[in-house]
Amino acid sequence: MKLAVLREGRDAEKRVAATPETVKKLKGLGFEVSVETCAGALAHIPDSAYTGAGAIIDPDLETTLKDADVILSVQGLEAADAAKAKKGAALIAILNPFQERGRIKAYADAGLMAFAMEFVPRITRAQTMDVLSSQSNLAGYKAVLDAAYEYGRAFPMMMTAAGTVPPAKVMIMGAGVAGLQAIATAKRLGAIVSATDVRPVAKEQVESLGGKFVMVEDEETKAAETEGGYAKEMSDEYKAKQAALIAETLTKQDIVITTALIPGRKAPVLITEDMVKTMKPGSVIVDLAVESGGNCELSKPGEVVEAFGVKIIGHKNVPSRLAADSSALYARNLVHFITPHVTEGALVFDFEDQIIADTLVTKDGAIVNDRLKEGE
Ligand code: NAI
Repeated sequence: MKLAVLREGRDAEKRVAATPETVKKLKGLGFEVSVETCAGALAHIPDSAYTGAGAIIDPDLETTLKDADVILSVQGLEAADAAKAKKGAALIAILNPFQERGRIKAYADAGLMAFAMEFVPRITRAQTMDVLSSQSNLAGYKAVLDAAYEYGRAFPMMMTAAGTVPPAKVMIMGAGVAGLQAIATAKRLGAIVSATDVRPVAKEQVESLGGKFVMVEDEETKAAETEGGYAKEMSDEYKAKQAALIAETLTKQDIVITTALIPGRKAPVLITEDMVKTMKPGSVIVDLAVESGGNCELSKPGEVVEAFGVKIIGHKNVPSRLAADSSALYARNLVHFITPHVTEGALVFDFEDQIIADTLVTKDGAIVNDRLKEGE
């Protein structure tokens, strides 16, 4: 069985889907591993490290894909390249299926068996395969460092002979995986941290990290969490109440990091232009949801903009800014995903398995995932 590891081609993507450590594990499972040349270069993994682990380096995409039964990638094959893969091959990647339906159709047309890793269910057994968690955790950490870099003041309180430097006030909006890591990181740097969310269960998690929890709690928030642990879109009435609370809180903050997402939908706008106007000059906003429409009205994907004296950071693909670590965790997620389905040197997926059923998006020429069919 041949397994191919692709070189990523998309803008701002430095990650790679396998590391020398996981190549050894994949070889141990019985795969012949072929890595496209320079696949790991931007994550500081030279071709020689892959050959040292037992992989073959192939010179281009066509050669890497030729006869491959399994294709590992971070962001998947482009639609135009789908037909270069063998019919029936398993493509395992983060496929952004709701936003890129055309590409999913191309996979179906090419007869690929495509798996969208962001659809891994949030069940205990799947935690080791949860790419959203492994990547969001690093994004939450990096967001605080990005904010600290752009902020013209210090984070911790410093009592010096020349006087006292006050601690930074940091607010995290959206206390999921990225948000909780951002709280922990900002606390470690000495900031005073508060956080908000629509899921009441987040309160205890925020407080256990030493943050202050601020939220509008009403009848609606009792049902704000889906069975899968994600947030639902809130009503206009709730949004108005939340906006009033945020507007009042924002004026006191130095740094705001927003992470709020709703799977399959545009990110909620939490910071309007009018709210930015009320913030202190020199404050910093980091919008981690910028690629999903943005939590701040003024953030721009891939840019750091300044408006009304506030810096608004909209870096794209934040996990990729820590490419060595994010690749290492992602590559392990993929090995955990594949391993249960390898028996006696053959990869045989159990289509009854919930993890496989939830992640499989195309098979036998058709789009097979219920979430995509419903357009949920
Ligand atoms: P996410 O990336 O989809 O969203 C980030 C955060 O934004 C969430 O906490 C969400 O509630 C919040 N949010 C959405 N709309 C908002 C709004 N209008 N205002 C304020 N906040 C808003 O979520 P993520 O980070 O993937 O995690 C969601 C939950 O799932 C967390 O409780 C996490 O601990 C849990 N989880 C469970 C796992 C498991 O059981 N295996 C694995 C990973 C996460």
